[in-house]
Amino acid sequence: MPTIAVFDSGVGGLSVLKALRTEMPESGFVYLADSGYAPYGERGDAWVDARCQEIAAWLTTHHALDALVVACNTATAAAIDRLRQLHPHLPIVGVEPGLKPALALTRSGHIGVMATRGTLGSQRFAQLLGKVGRHTPQLAQAVQWHTRACHGLADAIERHDTTRIRALCAEHGTALMAQAQAAGGRLDVVVLGCTHYPFVADTIAQVLGTDVALVDTGNAVARHTRLRLAHCATNAHATATTLLSTGSAQALGEAATRWLQLPAASAQAVHLPCRL
Ligand code: DGL
Repeated sequence: MPTIAVFDSGVGGLSVLKALRTEMPESGFVYLADSGYAPYGERGDAWVDARCQEIAAWLTTHHALDALVVACNTATAAAIDRLRQLHPHLPIVGVEPGLKPALALTRSGHIGVMATRGTLGSQRFAQLLGKVGRHTPQLAQAVQWHTRACHGLADAIERHDTTRIRALCAEHGTALMAQAQAAGGRLDVVVLGCTHYPFVADTIAQVLGTDVALVDTGNAVARHTRLRLAHCATNAHATATTLLSTGSAQALGEAATRWLQLPAASAQAVHLPCRL
């Protein structure tokens, strides 16, 4: 049975872990929340790249892994190429905003993307937009993308600050709708381009309207991970889920209970200092 490490800047990657546990119930998981250093979205690519190298080095040293899932759009954008260079024999799966599924869903031709500033400003995001356009040129030409760097939202979700979550969803969601209106259209699909956001999808839907489809790639990432491992010999380990945090183990445990019904007491703090 494979052992898969999953990491994020904090509790957001639990949305990917949830999908992975459903898709691969026989696997063991090590989830690392880098909550001591969250959020990543405003830190800049160089810092995130270097921090992800530290995390991957720590995980591969302390656990016999069959795969690594970078359950963070910001970290994938900044670091996945380097991680694959440094760990060439380890399957490494990243998370990217679901632009392609959004393109297939839209009827109005106005698609919103909510993500961190790091993700939206990355070269990888620009390449993803270009790639989606090349694969489906007729569709892509008819579509306008509206992006919104949702400053503060991942942090509010990290802290489970419901008042701030509601205020920030209202602020960012309203701004996104206004962008589409200014371009003469109406959003009918919004991509959740940060793994924290699926946990506040209901609040986002209240702002945007329930007829706006929200796209989250957790299930697709889980399927892709299973297929990647189908052809690999695995290390045959236990099937438990281990929860680790560089910040508050209690906060990670509470989030894992709230969203995944995992026992809160199973979360442990780890010492993984940042040398940057
Ligand atoms: N959950 C992360 C993402 O998918 C990052 C949020 C943050 O740390 O800013 O982008």
